[in-house]
Amino acid sequence: MKTFAIRTVAVAAAAMLAGTAHAWNEGGGEQDEALSLTPDMENGMDVYEVCSACHLPEGWGQTEGTFPQLAGQHRAVLIKQLSDIRALNRDNPTMYPFALPESIGDAQALADVVAYIEKLPMNPEWGKGPWGPDTPEYAQGEKLFKDNCVKCHGPDGMGDPEKFYPRINGQHYKYMLRQFEWIRDGKRRNANPDMVKQIKSFTDKDMQMVINYVSWHPVPKDQLAESADWKNPDFE
Ligand code: HEC
Ligand code: HEC
Repeated sequence: MKTFAIRTVAVAAAAMLAGTAHAWNEGGGEQDEALSLTPDMENGMDVYEVCSACHLPEGWGQTEGTFPQLAGQHRAVLIKQLSDIRALNRDNPTMYPFALPESIGDAQALADVVAYIEKLPMNPEWGKGPWGPDTPEYAQGEKLFKDNCVKCHGPDGMGDPEKFYPRINGQHYKYMLRQFEWIRDGKRRNANPDMVKQIKSFTDKDMQMVINYVSWHPVPKDQLAESADWKNPDFE
């Protein structure tokens, strides 16, 4: 009898924890509001100034992976990530204080800054993994990608803005590796539960190979800056 009661409580507690961990895309609130607002580009540029300290004026982040490339990411994904970070549904202690309403403004500020980011061209020399297209690791990564990722991130890694699936082509290898590991190990709280299930048996080597493949994937030329020396004229 006692054992039964304890087990019931344990199961209920586990379900509650799972509920928290799987708060993937509840929508509503700020996210929906920001998606529906008409952006003000001037204000977007003003807001972006604080972001540029880490993500750089070009929105390219860093190839060594500390800061992700934001340029080129879908508007809906950027808004979701920003709302999640503000709601502490995705831990980002480095950025958190700079992303708060007190610092940049409400849902309108999110709509504005994202519209600004959206028009930035991408870094043509993003960070790539160690295994080029002629290696067995690349081939193995390609197979893992086709079997496990295409259904959500698409054959070109373009994601799906309608479903808030991020674009992953053109993103820095080291940043993606960290996110992928956090998603697999349950450290990224806003992770998609179906992705977590899909990748839970991935070894560290599988993870490196599949992300390596993604990082070598081409990005459409018209979305890239003309050279890696391009500077954002708004912040010169
Ligand atoms: C102090 C540095 C810093 C500042 C300032 C900063 N960020 Fe970030 N940002 C980061 C870091 C670090 C990450 C990645 C965290 C991680 O590894 O999970 C990140 C992640 C993000 C992401 C998630 C990207 C993705 O691919 O999921 C978005 C969106 C973002 N930042 C937007 C912004 C915007 C907009 C601003 C300005 C309002 C801003 N950041 C200001 C450091 C910063
Ligand atoms: C069921 C759909 C689904 C599958 C399958 C899936 N993903 Fe994801 N992935 C997502 C979603 C949704 C997110 C964003 C979660 C969020 O909102 O924070 C994501 C996030 C990511 C990120 C972090 C992106 C960023 O900018 O922070 C990487 C990297 C990634 N996925 C790679 C992969 C790879 C590689 C595979 C295959 C091995 C894969 N995913 C399989 C849906 C999926």
